[in-house]
Amino acid sequence: MPSALVTGASSGIGLEISRVLAPMVDRLVVTGRQVEALRDLEQELGDIVEVEVIVADLSTESGVDSLIGGAGDVDLLVNNAGYGLYGRLVDQDPDGVLGIVDVNVRALTRLGHHYAAKMKASGEGRILNVASIAAFQPGPGLAVYCASKAYVLSLSRAMSAELRGSGVTVTALCPGYVETGFQSTSGMRLTGVEIWSSLPASSVAKKAVRAMMRGRREVIPGVVNWFIPVFARILPIRLQLMIVKASLMLR
Ligand SMILES: NC(=O)c1ccc[n+]([C@@H]2O[C@H](COP(=O)([O-])OP(=O)(O)OC[C@H]3O[C@@H](n4cnc5c(N)ncnc54)[C@H](OP(=O)(O)O)[C@@H]3O)[C@@H](O)[C@H]2O)c1
Repeated sequence: MPSALVTGASSGIGLEISRVLAPMVDRLVVTGRQVEALRDLEQELGDIVEVEVIVADLSTESGVDSLIGGAGDVDLLVNNAGYGLYGRLVDQDPDGVLGIVDVNVRALTRLGHHYAAKMKASGEGRILNVASIAAFQPGPGLAVYCASKAYVLSLSRAMSAELRGSGVTVTALCPGYVETGFQSTSGMRLTGVEIWSSLPASSVAKKAVRAMMRGRREVIPGVVNWFIPVFARILPIRLQLMIVKASLMLR
């Protein structure tokens, strides 16, 4: 039975992915900053799997170091921790927006690099990187967040090609709207069509784990969301910017 590491396991999609993975592994390392939520998860899953809690702030180099040091080798990596901040970039606190880059980009890359190398040496492994449908177009109102997810998708696609034939697969998960802690952290509430098209985190988690275990390159849960990459390919950028700006900036 393999072992797994899930970042951002204290809430939302990462919490649900941990629940789906629990019966499939014999060691589950869960991480985040909210120690109580992680302890609750440990208690909930402790009867079916050995759960290890590591409290780490992934916006810092030392937090990522302590996670890698504490988790040891794993067969499955779920690079899920991430957040966004809603608003015009020029109005935002620079440390706040750079924190998005530190967590969504820097920590994810460091963990992906570290574990992909280990997995390649052992001849097998699975990596799931949580991107977003926000990866497919620029997002006025969530500029740094959308850019960070475009990075995650691009990195995941390239890594999956580089690792082909090695026994290691890299899957990018691109969810649409999911009601989680994301909305309160980002300050972006969901409106009509977004609530209608949103999926529960539990359903996204099931689809994500299935795709990761099958070694798929990418997965977009929810049929409505399949149109996003199509529009991103056919619509001129000017039009995409107008549409996204109108839908995001009017709140
Ligand atoms: N919700 C959506 O609509 C949606 C759509 C597409 C993609 N996503 C992506 O899905 C992933 C999970 O987000 P979610 O929707 O489940 O939101 P969430 O409920 O707010 O969960 C975010 C997770 O990331 C962790 N995290 C954030 N900053 C961290 C830091 N500095 N150090 C360590 N962990 C940190 C949080 O843990 P602590 O608070 O314990 O630190 C939490 O467990 C994110 O990458 C997000 O961008 C979400």
